[in-house]
Amino acid sequence: MREETAISVQGVSKQFRIGEFEEDAENIVSSLIRTIKRPLTNYRKYRSLYRFDDKSGAESSDILWALRDVSFDVPRGQVMGIVGMNGAGKSTLLKILASITPPSRGRVEIKGRVSSLLEVGTGFHPELTGRENVFLNGTMMGMTRQEVGRKFDEIVDFSGVDKFLDTPVKRYSSGMRVRLAFAVAAHLEPEVLIVDEVLAVGDAAFQRKCLDKMEDAGQDGRTVLFVSHNLPAVTRLCSRAILLKEGQIIMDGTANDVVAHYLAVERDLSGSKTWTEEDGPGDGIAQLRAMRIKNTAGETIETCEIREPLGLEMEFDVFDPGRVMMVSFTVFDEQGTQVFITVETDEKWLGKPRENGRYVATAWVPGNLLGEGTFNIGAHLSTMNPLEMHYNAHQQVAVQIIDNLGPGSARGIYIGSFPGPVRPKLDWETQFLPQSVSRSAAS
Ligand SMILES: Nc1ncnc2c1ncn2[C@@H]1O[C@H](COP(=O)(O)OP(=O)(O)OP(=O)(O)O)[C@@H](O)[C@H]1O
Ligand SMILES: [Mg+2]
Repeated sequence: MREETAISVQGVSKQFRIGEFEEDAENIVSSLIRTIKRPLTNYRKYRSLYRFDDKSGAESSDILWALRDVSFDVPRGQVMGIVGMNGAGKSTLLKILASITPPSRGRVEIKGRVSSLLEVGTGFHPELTGRENVFLNGTMMGMTRQEVGRKFDEIVDFSGVDKFLDTPVKRYSSGMRVRLAFAVAAHLEPEVLIVDEVLAVGDAAFQRKCLDKMEDAGQDGRTVLFVSHNLPAVTRLCSRAILLKEGQIIMDGTANDVVAHYLAVERDLSGSKTWTEEDGPGDGIAQLRAMRIKNTAGETIETCEIREPLGLEMEFDVFDPGRVMMVSFTVFDEQGTQVFITVETDEKWLGKPRENGRYVATAWVPGNLLGEGTFNIGAHLSTMNPLEMHYNAHQQVAVQIIDNLGPGSARGIYIGSFPGPVRPKLDWETQFLPQSVSRSAAS
């Protein structure tokens, strides 16, 4: 393993027997025992884990390969995302890296102090108090009591569970447990931080704190592996991502490319769609024939930088002439919130009857309007007066808005998480009033 490589995964496979659930070493005591069994010098610097050969050889039908021959290296200081559908093997991979479960084949090497936060068992012993667990976690990572002590207040402060510090962790709510676990994992200065979907738990404010903290970790040169279904978080935090499908890596590249591919192919959301005369939404009056998301160069796109304008385009046929029609697009975010409707305002057609023929209507969404994330676009057409809907095609194409943290965005100097479906860049004016001001003596 090269000096600058933090994690090296070589030919890792993992099999499960269907119907049997393998017991994970979820609690800290069992993983502590495994750790102690390993030579200590090995543990601190160089974690070379397990090489298991498949004893049975033959594949039987009740064997499930959760991971198949997975190999990759992560250089020190890289923040890498892992994406994929439910059951793709993401959590299994992280559990192997965190040595909660051994691989069936292959090897994993990790250089440096690892701290992990996985969806199952947050690495706490249920009978011990929050305080005791924090110290135990630190010890496991090879820190002294004093080192943990110096970080203790920060951890408690971040977690917000100060009132429950002397309560056994088994009495914590799942949200409280995750809060404390994330605080420990992020503050004990691991060289490698492994985080699985913790953002799904906890409230919005805490999720934001976690993302900011992970961003800090990346900027401090720590190696971070991050599994999430929160794709905007993956594109913002990670420089690189891998896409897992049925236990195999099917793509390894920049986080932007991998997320765009995942959305387009795996989730069947692409930036364009065409219909034939047979299957196009519509009726005897008009029919939808194509939809496209475009950039200013006229190319079809799947992703768009947050500062760039994007075009929503629909192509439709009008069979029955002489009608005044209303053309519109709807934009929904990933949570299903309708962000806006936009209605055709081109003077040429406003209130005018249409001829028989094909139309291409484009609405330009300015840069710095939509926030980060995936937006689903629908196309709609009606005759006005009396109102008659010809097609009402919701969520047909999608675009992923990404933020590469370049200048000129609505962020100003802020680089943390920036929630909300829209992120308009507004005209700000701040006046300075030159007068002497002083703080009153009030506490
Ligand atoms: N302990 C276990 N025993 C048996 N089968 C398991 C075990 N853990 C995972 N599996 C199986 O391995 C496959 C991969 O699961 P894994 O949890 O790694 O998926 P994932 O990518 O994390 O999915 P999700 O997005 O839903 O979290 C699944 O088919 C799952 O049912
Ligand atoms: Mg998982």
